[in-house]
Amino acid sequence: MARVAIVTGGTRGIGEAISLALKEAGMTVAANYAGNDERAKAFTTRTGIKAYKWDVGDFDACQKGCQQVADELGPIDVVVNNAGITRDGTMPKMTYEMWDDVMRTNLGGCFNMAKAVFPGMRERKWGRIVNIGSINGQAGQYGQVNYAAAKSGIHGFTKALAQEGARAGITVNAIAPGYIDTDMVAAVPADVLEKIVAKIPVGRLGQAHEIARGVAFLCAEDAGFVTGSTLSINGGQHMY
Ligand code: CAA
Repeated sequence: MARVAIVTGGTRGIGEAISLALKEAGMTVAANYAGNDERAKAFTTRTGIKAYKWDVGDFDACQKGCQQVADELGPIDVVVNNAGITRDGTMPKMTYEMWDDVMRTNLGGCFNMAKAVFPGMRERKWGRIVNIGSINGQAGQYGQVNYAAAKSGIHGFTKALAQEGARAGITVNAIAPGYIDTDMVAAVPADVLEKIVAKIPVGRLGQAHEIARGVAFLCAEDAGFVTGSTLSINGGQHMY
C-alpha cells in the first residue's frame, strides 16, 4: 500500500513542489489549501492530486479534514506542515491581529495537524512529520516579529515532538528554507528584496523544488534515524 501524505498549503508555492515530490516518491498525496479555489482546481487538473479545503489554524477543521482524507485515501502516514502566511510590519505598525493570524496559522497549524494524526501514527508504529520553518525563525528578520516567533516556535515544537515519537517509529523534522522564488517572497518590496538577495552566497533565490527535495528525503522509508533535526536550505545565507 502506498503511504498517504497530507501537505498543508500544498497547492501553491513550496507546497505544490512538495506535493509533486511526494507523489513522485510513490505516495498518495492530499494537498490541503485554505482559500484559493481557482488555483487549487488548476493544481488538481495539472497534477491529478486531490485538494482538500480547510484552515489549518482551526483545530476542529483539522480533525475533520484529516478524517476525510483518511476515509477517502487511507490512514495518514506523512504530514508536511507547510501552510504559512506573512503579515509583515515593524513593531509600531504590527497589530495584535497581524501577530495572532501568523501565530495561529504558522505555529498553531502544526499543533492542530499533529494532534489529528499522531495517535494513528503511534498505533501503526510509523510516521513522518516534516515542519517547514524558516531562516527567519533561526536568524530573525526586521519587520517579522510575528513570523520569526512562529517559525522559531516550529523548531522547538519539532525537537519536542521528535522525542515523543521516536520509540513509536515516528520521525519529526524541520526544514528551514531561505528566500525561495514564490508569491510570498515576491510580496517583499523590490528594493528590500534586492538587498536580501545580495547577501545570499549562492547569488539567487531558491527554487521550490529545492525545498521539496529535502522533504522527500526526510519522508523516505530509509530516513528513520533522522529525527529532531533541522535541514537548512538557504543558499548559504545563514550558517551556524
Ligand atoms: N535592518 C535595519 N534597518 C532596516 C532594515 C533592516 N533589515 N530594513 C529596513 N530598515 C530601516 C529602513 O532603512 C528605514 O529606515 P529609515 O526610516 O531611517 O530610512 C526603516 O527601517 C523603515 O523601513 P521601511 O521603509 O522598509 O518601513 P516600512 O514600514 O515601509 O516596511 C517592512 C517595513 C514591512 C519590514 C519592509 O521593510 C519589508 O517588507 N521588509 C522585508 C521583510 C521580509 O524579509 N519578509 C520576508 C517575507 S518572505 C518570508 O517570510 C519567507 C521566508 O521564510 C524567508
